[in-house]
Amino acid sequence: MNQIPQDNQGPIDVVIMAAGKGTRMKSRLPKVLHRLAGRALLAHVTDTAARIGARHVVVVTGHGAAEVEAAMSATGAALQFARQEPQLGTGHAVQQAVPLLPDDGTVLVLSGDVPLIGEETLRALIAASAGQRLALLTIEFDDPTGYGRIVRAEGQGGQGAGEVTAIVEQKDATEAQRQIREIYSGVMAVPVGLLKGWLARLDNRNAQGEYYLTDIVKLAAADGVPVVAHVIGDALQVAGINSPAQLAALERAWQLRQADALMAQGVRLADPARFDVRGTLACEADVEIDVNCVFEGSVYLGEGVRIGANCVIANARIEAGAVIHPFTHIDGEKTGVTVGERSLVGPFARLRPGAQLGTEVHIGNFVEVKNSTLADGAKANHLAYLGDASVGQRVNYGAGSITANYDGANKHRTVIEDDVHVGSNCVLVAPITIGAGGTIGGGSTVNKSTAPGALTVARGKQVSFPNWKRPQKTPKA
Ligand code: UD1
Ligand code: CA
Repeated sequence: MNQIPQDNQGPIDVVIMAAGKGTRMKSRLPKVLHRLAGRALLAHVTDTAARIGARHVVVVTGHGAAEVEAAMSATGAALQFARQEPQLGTGHAVQQAVPLLPDDGTVLVLSGDVPLIGEETLRALIAASAGQRLALLTIEFDDPTGYGRIVRAEGQGGQGAGEVTAIVEQKDATEAQRQIREIYSGVMAVPVGLLKGWLARLDNRNAQGEYYLTDIVKLAAADGVPVVAHVIGDALQVAGINSPAQLAALERAWQLRQADALMAQGVRLADPARFDVRGTLACEADVEIDVNCVFEGSVYLGEGVRIGANCVIANARIEAGAVIHPFTHIDGEKTGVTVGERSLVGPFARLRPGAQLGTEVHIGNFVEVKNSTLADGAKANHLAYLGDASVGQRVNYGAGSITANYDGANKHRTVIEDDVHVGSNCVLVAPITIGAGGTIGGGSTVNKSTAPGALTVARGKQVSFPNWKRPQKTPKA
């Protein structure tokens, strides 16, 4: 199979079946929108379709069609939708999609609820189809119950040897056929011209009264078109989701696989079973990650970065030598967050979109930073808020201080120049600039910009009354 050139098959078009109900999920949400590793099941499949360079990607929708189409359109993927109403079987599903496909391609049929199908597997399947054959993705299961069985011609040795002559669904299979352990994964590659012809000839005379896509195998055999099986060993790639338990099991299996890949690169995970990547995590050498951390979107960890237990980190760059202490939440959303080299963040810190920390910045417990830059060596160690601020080098930002960046209608910036010392419990009312080297006395509410080097105190003067007697309780009559 491998010697067949890849370009034999012409353009690749993809049909993704996603119209089924997913009754066993017992959810209002359409099944294919449930999330695996932080993304809709269907989005995993459309991503893979895009990676193999599919020309057209047609998603067959039915149950929850409007919701599925809206959610998938929002991902920005280039998709076409074909509605299947009512749902009369997998053959009927593909019938709805093929009118959208030109006559020169090979069609890859995928399922919206089989999210982890691999790119290389699909390329091999396309090569096996080679523009002239029906290629089926198959796998052997110890317990094949529920799946379509691969029926092969007799007298040519064991499984994987004889020509494939049919797929028989569980409910239609004889007792002997139910013993077959090679099953159809639900994935096939087939030249579109052949597919269109066979789909037109399907009927629904079977145990379920459905138009089975799998019946095209019999038609191919009758037409003398070779049917080839590409057998894989990796069950994760063909695992379908039908229930919350299966979704959770596949999530854990997938996370373990990602953990193994990172550990193989040298990343030290305290416990690969308590580690989740919902997106992409890129790590340099000597990264250490403690238990129960979740990484979302796109995260980069530079050399020697250490992440404490129970951190959630999304869309962020953490540069070399930085330490993120336990229970820190970082979410760059669309804007991103940068933590500079050797910076220390947390425990219990929160970095929001646009937080950009320079080198050796310290962000301590219960400090929130949003849309603010902190230059090298700046420190905000306790209970503080910095929003829409530019903080200079070596600034010390006191406990309990905040930037009042919002006047109820608009946001304004606070500029704190190099070497400023802001005392505890200060309110800096933006727009405002605190000049370089200046000091703000603790407890001040400052709403006018201050000159470089000045000490500014803006609070009620302290008054003391000597020998003050507190009121006494009046004795009961
Ligand atoms: C199908 C195959 C079976 C295979 C199994 C692998 C058929 C007849 N059988 O069975 O050989 O072993 O997948 O998982 O194809 N769908 C629609 N419209 C419909 C019916 C289904 O879009 O009218 C979609 C479903 O949403 C799902 C996919 O097609 O994404 C497969 O349908 P499902 O009912 O799960 O097929 P199986 O009975 O599992
Ligand atoms: Ca299924």
